[in-house]
Amino acid sequence: MAGFRIPEQVIEEIKASSELVSVVEQYVRLEKKTGQNFFGLCPFHSEDTPSFSVSPSKQIFYCFGCHKGGDVIRFIMEIEKCEYLPAIQLLAQRAGITLPEPDDEAYRLRSEKTKALQAINLEAARFYYQNLISTAGRDARAYLQKRQISAQTVRRFGLGCALADWDGLYRHLQNKGLADDVDLLLQSGLLRRGKSGNLYDLFRERLMFPILDVMGRVVAFGGRVYDDSVPKYINSPETPIYTKGRHLYGLNLAKSSKAGRLLMVEGYMDVIALYQAGIDYTVAALGTAMTENQARLLAKYSESVIIAFDADAAGQTAALRSLDILHQHGLKVTVLQVPEGKDPDEFIRNNGSERFQALIEQSLPLLDFKLLAARREHTHDGALDILAYQDEACDVLGKEENAIVRELYAGRLADELSAMSETVLREIERRRSQKKPGQQHDQLRQTLLTTRRSEPAERHAPATRDEIYLLTLLASDSAIWPVLDPGPVVEDFSEGSMQTLAAAVLPLAADGRLDMPLLLDQAQSLTVMGQPLADLLAQAGMKQEERFGQQGQLEAAVELLKRQRRGKLMRRKDVISQAIMTADPVERDRLKQELLEISQQLEKMKSTSQ
Ligand code: GTP
Ligand code: MN
Repeated sequence: MAGFRIPEQVIEEIKASSELVSVVEQYVRLEKKTGQNFFGLCPFHSEDTPSFSVSPSKQIFYCFGCHKGGDVIRFIMEIEKCEYLPAIQLLAQRAGITLPEPDDEAYRLRSEKTKALQAINLEAARFYYQNLISTAGRDARAYLQKRQISAQTVRRFGLGCALADWDGLYRHLQNKGLADDVDLLLQSGLLRRGKSGNLYDLFRERLMFPILDVMGRVVAFGGRVYDDSVPKYINSPETPIYTKGRHLYGLNLAKSSKAGRLLMVEGYMDVIALYQAGIDYTVAALGTAMTENQARLLAKYSESVIIAFDADAAGQTAALRSLDILHQHGLKVTVLQVPEGKDPDEFIRNNGSERFQALIEQSLPLLDFKLLAARREHTHDGALDILAYQDEACDVLGKEENAIVRELYAGRLADELSAMSETVLREIERRRSQKKPGQQHDQLRQTLLTTRRSEPAERHAPATRDEIYLLTLLASDSAIWPVLDPGPVVEDFSEGSMQTLAAAVLPLAADGRLDMPLLLDQAQSLTVMGQPLADLLAQAGMKQEERFGQQGQLEAAVELLKRQRRGKLMRRKDVISQAIMTADPVERDRLKQELLEISQQLEKMKSTSQ
């Protein structure tokens, strides 16, 4: 359905006919508690006491345990583990609403082709499986036995085999009436045209691994030889339904694991062996280096990823590259090192699944792994080149955005180098300020200030509790906006995500159109303090009655806005006071002037609020 948009009013209609409590009750047993909200056991993480809540008045859900929250569409996306569009389709179907079909001819043709190619791939998978369990499949079965793959695992992954003949699949598709459109057969990538013009099978005499998409549809195949001949694997070429680097092998199974994390390995056989050993959250990138697409896909299904790579040099470089991509997508990343250059499949066969489980638990946080890699790189014949290591380690730590983490690692690095931790930290910060001049500089001072006074990090975080509650109040009661005079403007909010959100929702609030689902919608994909902003808003929305009472919400909003404005000025004052110390004379005069103006504004606020 790429490129096709469902009209906004149809989505509104679907939302309006999908009452959240009744939708949730199809999955979760809810109890009415005192107060406004329903509670139940969270379907997204395992727990014994209910922390999952649903607000019928706001039409949002929120779990106080795992912090998932949102509107009815988000709920379906989470519980069905699907994207926005399938969620809409599902809700529409249940509500008996027919979705408009795009009357675009090109779209219709594309969607027909997709269906036809899916049918060919599915039939091919059936064919390869039948081969495997037939008498002719004995070589493949012997190979699987050698690798200790059980019949149950074979079925789980739909493994099969291609026999030695040239056109077994082609003839099978002909028998099934799926071979009329030669063009389509060629596009499936499973067949090729020979010099004589006849079609023949791409895969012959190979163990076959169907590659499934997240929804469990067969989109391509990999095929492995039974011996040491080359190429070891061949894969389907790219087709209209298969783009390399867009899929992750095993994700269709791993997405349902309760482990709450994903383990990323290199090969088909690793995924299969680990699954058989009870580690059911493994996926493989299939030969390619990790792509942006795969990182995005991973981030949809889990917040933390363990990368298992062979301890050989090629594996390490791949790991470093993948780490950065995953980290940039907000995933918590750790690295598992399989000893002795083995891959996970081999390791588990030799050492059992418990020892592998131990490796998982010992996997290294990203920074530790990078420092270790730097250490290795600069160790020659057992001797560490301290200067080179120190240089690279400071570079690595300089790229870390969290000041507290930087300070922590600076301390460790100092111990390792027998240096003063202040000196190491200063060196790290020096590299940061060299790399990112300007605005970053202010932030840097701000964070240094934070750590020096050892106050909680939230003090200078790019979102405050006040502004979050202010927005949820505005979203729950349209009577609040007119009372705020002068009303909030974008600049009242913290820089970054909060201002982005404010810019989108303040006009809606001014029009009396802002509600909680709309607010959460606008916050999608924004984060503050390392958390999804929508989560924080949903959480605040759920707590707001308890906090301010039903009656006190107007007064609360007035007070919150006032506090937010004051807080912003005070934070700015802190930053300037710090900057003045190192500014040149011209800059210093300017800063002093600004400081004066801020003080006056703060005075004025004090006198009007009393
Ligand atoms: P086994 O040797 O059977 O254990 O396979 P493996 O899954 O451990 O493969 P390996 O670690 O050698 O390679 C990792 C992945 O890279 C494989 O699962 C394939 O997806 C891919 N790959 C390996 N060799 C080839 C090849 O010769 N051609 C292609 N196209 N891909 C390959
Ligand atoms: Mn292997």
